[in-house]
Amino acid sequence: MSCIKLRAVVALSGLALVCAAHAQQKETAAPKKAAAPAKKAASAPKDAVTAEFEKFREVMEDASPAELFEAKGEELWKTKRGPKNASLEQCDLGLGPGVLKGAYVRMPRYFADADQVMDVERRIVYCMVTLQGFKEADIAKKSFSKGPYTPDPVSLVTYVAGQSRGMKIAIPQKHAKEREAYKVGREIFNFRAGAWDFSCASCHGEDGKRIRTQELPNLTSKKDAIRAFQGWPGYRMTGGLMHTLQWRMNDCFRQQRFPEPGYASETIADLLTYMGVNANGQVYKGPGIKR
Ligand code: HEC
Repeated sequence: MSCIKLRAVVALSGLALVCAAHAQQKETAAPKKAAAPAKKAASAPKDAVTAEFEKFREVMEDASPAELFEAKGEELWKTKRGPKNASLEQCDLGLGPGVLKGAYVRMPRYFADADQVMDVERRIVYCMVTLQGFKEADIAKKSFSKGPYTPDPVSLVTYVAGQSRGMKIAIPQKHAKEREAYKVGREIFNFRAGAWDFSCASCHGEDGKRIRTQELPNLTSKKDAIRAFQGWPGYRMTGGLMHTLQWRMNDCFRQQRFPEPGYASETIADLLTYMGVNANGQVYKGPGIKR
């Protein structure tokens, strides 16, 4: 984000801003949207920006726009829809058909009926296909929020996630395929390739990295791993859109200059298993707000 644009956001949000320190961090030869991660300079001003944003987010979360999507998701869950004119109330998210409480903090997990490890969005799409008769290809065609359009799975994931508010993350590693998903996820996370020879770990494998004003969580550390969970699905103030982790993953693959993975694919389920298990034991606060 340019300093001018940043100023505009700041003006809107009431954040304090120090642009001088920002200037020295300007992108050099990096392509437009993402800059190579820089080691954090030990300058206090940028940390002040982060701290102010955190405060702002806390205030916003009291009346979070995410709640609107939770309500929409609940309606979608309970309404008979699709070629089979069925609701999703019989969808099994791992704790039995229709059991929502605590399901979100226990996914991704292995599902015997599909013989696959599935994250929440993958599972919801599976239920929309098997119970309601929707076509997976149609759902995948418009899978991310854009303008006024929010895909149904996004609202559904938000609703389901809200049913685990305040609960401990406890992603299972019992089934062999769950352990396999963790291992493959860890490999994908560390796999370097592409125009920049980057992996996820290039940006998220060490403490204290940042891109411009954005702090990059070290998702391999116990302390930061929660950031791959907390606040997701999230209402993103940049653009005013509700997004799930499926979108976050795609956008990070793009930043990494990798081809974007398929929607609700095994690759994403594996990555989310790896990061989610790293966050086990921490408390999930529910759908949130993102910068
Ligand atoms: C070029 C650097 C870069 C690479 C490579 C990258 N990311 Fe990111 N990632 C970012 C940025 C920038 C953000 C947004 C941070 C923010 O908004 O504060 C982010 C955010 C995230 C978040 C959300 C963190 C939060 O606090 O909500 C997750 C999870 C994540 N990335 C996972 C991944 C995974 C998995 C990969 C590999 C497929 C990856 N990233 C590759 C730069 C990168």
